[in-house]
Amino acid sequence: MKVLVVGSGGREHALCWKIAQSPLVEAVHCAPGNAGTATCATNAPYGVDDLFGLQELCDVESIDLVVVGPEAPLADGLVDQLRDAEIQVFGPTEAAARLESSKIFSKNLMNKYNIPTARSQSFTDVAAAKDYAASLGLPVVLKADGLAAGKGVLICQSAEDVADGLDRILVKREFGSAGKEALVEEFLDGEEVSFFALTDGKAIVPLATSQDHKRIFDNDEGPNTGGMGAYSPAPIVTPELHDEIMTTVIEPTVKAMEAEGCPYQGVVYAGLMIVDGKPKVLEYNVRFGDPECQPLMMRLKSDIVPLLQACADGTLEGHIVEWHDEAAVCVVLTSGGYPGAYEKGIQVHGLDQTFDEGVVVFHAGTKNVHNHVQTNGGRVLGVTALATTIDEAIKKAYANVPKITFDGMHYRKDIGAKAARHLG
Ligand code: AMP
Ligand code: GLY
Repeated sequence: MKVLVVGSGGREHALCWKIAQSPLVEAVHCAPGNAGTATCATNAPYGVDDLFGLQELCDVESIDLVVVGPEAPLADGLVDQLRDAEIQVFGPTEAAARLESSKIFSKNLMNKYNIPTARSQSFTDVAAAKDYAASLGLPVVLKADGLAAGKGVLICQSAEDVADGLDRILVKREFGSAGKEALVEEFLDGEEVSFFALTDGKAIVPLATSQDHKRIFDNDEGPNTGGMGAYSPAPIVTPELHDEIMTTVIEPTVKAMEAEGCPYQGVVYAGLMIVDGKPKVLEYNVRFGDPECQPLMMRLKSDIVPLLQACADGTLEGHIVEWHDEAAVCVVLTSGGYPGAYEKGIQVHGLDQTFDEGVVVFHAGTKNVHNHVQTNGGRVLGVTALATTIDEAIKKAYANVPKITFDGMHYRKDIGAKAARHLG
């Protein structure tokens, strides 16, 4: 069969890499892809927002299964459009993707179905929002309602921060149409965990646990990014916590979506804060995490393709997922300046070297120019290592990172350290 992966990040390279290993697959295409996807798939120059171009590509290449990587085309209804054209597609419909595309939709759902989350209310009026923020105490969290590429969350330490943040969201509309409403939310103090489960709308198959590192600098300092590194498994998720996440978050969420008339098919990603040993939902995402997907794909032993198909066609019941016992760690290399402004088009050196066995360098913001790889985004590469323990995987990843160089390259030196703390 022929598979099309939509997207161009590290997540999509990891998906293409894993899908290409399936004995069921004769060809993988990626739109638009990056310099890394070009090594295991055929890139096609269609943007993720070019819904009609993507549908045309499916016709021309006789694609049997489409796997949608990022949230934007899901929120735009790519899945609905391809289904109407009778193309099999992995991912939620536009209505189901509201779980991520509207924080107010997801908050209302969690409150209605008693899914644990931070207390919050949404506002269009600045004065009312300020009053509610004052009633919650400091710190307090402000969120723009719609998709804001991870940037629409402001953690406020003072009343001035609150006033300034509400002004940015509701008055200056810095987050565009995402700022029609602002959510004022209780601050949760704890450790973050990413929890992923495949679902066909009814049956649920949890994936291995993983944890992301969102801040740009070591020790979780500096601004939030898309993710600076990840590891799997995440020892903070004990078997007891795993059960609790399934019964209090994942199962009720899937049931709630069905009850609301928008059954959810695809991968559901709950961003959780573990507070005093209990999970609370910070947000849902309707896609694989990036970079969490990279260690997950390295650890996944099962063929991913039948799982993706089963989610798409409602036959997930009875499927099991097998994992390698080894741990995986992904260290993300970023452009200097990210998550602020950064240059593109910088030459990347060292990709042609031999990396240790069990190391895969997944590309994110890269492009091929005259057979040289150049930077093309904030997050450039993810050096991902598989080894017997988290500690060994950390050592292996960091032993291979210095083989790659580019001007301005930055990476965190403490990816995985949190896991080591839990393992004591
Ligand atoms: P979100 O896009 O809602 O996941 O928010 C992005 C990041 O902001 C999260 O990964 C957390 O690090 C942080 N965050 C969001 N909501 C809260 C909250 N209620 N309390 C503490 N941190 C939060
Ligand atoms: N790693 C965070 C995200 O994918 O949103």
